[in-house]
Amino acid sequence: MAEFQPFVMERMMSKWENVVDFNLSESGVHPLTLSELLAMAGQSPADLGDVLINYPQANGTVELRQTVANYYPGATADNVLITTGAAEANYLTIHTLLAPGDEAVILMPNYMQVWGIAKNLGVAVKTAHLVEERGWAPDLDELKAKVSSKTKLIAVCNPNNPTGRIMTEAEMSAIVAIAAKVGAWILADEVYAGAERETDTVTPSFYGRYDRVVAMGSMSKAYGLPGLRTGWAVGPANTLDEMWARHEYTTITTTMLSDKLTALAMSPQVRPKLLARTRKFIRDGYPILTAWAAARGNMFRVFPPQAAAIAFIRYNADINSTALMEKLRQQQSVLIVPGDHFGLDRYLRISFGLPKDYLTKGLARIDAVLATLPGH
Ligand SMILES: Cc1ncc(COP(=O)(O)O)c(C=O)c1O
Repeated sequence: MAEFQPFVMERMMSKWENVVDFNLSESGVHPLTLSELLAMAGQSPADLGDVLINYPQANGTVELRQTVANYYPGATADNVLITTGAAEANYLTIHTLLAPGDEAVILMPNYMQVWGIAKNLGVAVKTAHLVEERGWAPDLDELKAKVSSKTKLIAVCNPNNPTGRIMTEAEMSAIVAIAAKVGAWILADEVYAGAERETDTVTPSFYGRYDRVVAMGSMSKAYGLPGLRTGWAVGPANTLDEMWARHEYTTITTTMLSDKLTALAMSPQVRPKLLARTRKFIRDGYPILTAWAAARGNMFRVFPPQAAAIAFIRYNADINSTALMEKLRQQQSVLIVPGDHFGLDRYLRISFGLPKDYLTKGLARIDAVLATLPGH
């Protein structure tokens, strides 16, 4: 059996994110308290006192699945599977649609979960790329060249982690056309839809553009509720049923409280308030990050992310990105994600959707380490 491929970024974050003084590694915004969430619906924690802590319906209550389906054109409750985070939805999708020896093409850079799950399953993983010189647009010629009649699945992350790039309608159509030509599935990880920086329009889904799409969503990023551990997959009902059969082996179900609170958060009354809050964190934090980077002359080049609470920043110093991350953690107790975790050295992924004081102090800790680097 091939050697197990660990999820390098999540291993690093799991170990350190709750230990460091300043965690600038998270890709979502500063989370809400339970009271803040309930207040948006005119409720208080006491209103949860009667919730029976039973197993909820294992694929998600009908109320929740219908609520989620309402945000996807043409979807019904049967097109939604509720999972323990988008992490589980990605896992179930790969394990349902692919088998050892199959071929998949992943658009990179990308949150490396799908890549690692596919590798560990024995899938032949090819990559195509987003290109920095083109503002991180996907290289569609490369994608076309990499996709063959053997390709069973194309994986995209849109809006993209780590670059925050949102695909254009034309790019989405081109990817659908490339997939349709060979009958490949599209796995669309869309957990940052709703976390737009420059527009109030939620990034459109791949769902509904082609019959072989499974689209992932989550409460963790755009809604600021990662601790609910609620995610979902939206796709054809029979495919979701096969995924549900695997969900019975992984987690059975999310929790009753998560199901109920997610239904509340996704209600037409609360969801716009959550998205407005997320966008405010992103829009307030970004200028702090860019001002900080600009004050360091030619040390950093920041590509403006269109969505997500992260910037993928190229740095100009003679040090490997993992070595720099380790220095920052050990010397200043601040955590960032090294570009190495996305296969791109000399980049750092830094989060900015955080309270102003916390972000400012965290960035200042990075300065203290930069000052010790040769030539600076
Ligand atoms: C692109 C992407 N997909 C999925 C996940 C996992 O999210 P969840 O908390 O919903 O499991 C993350 C978390 O960082 C992510 O960035």
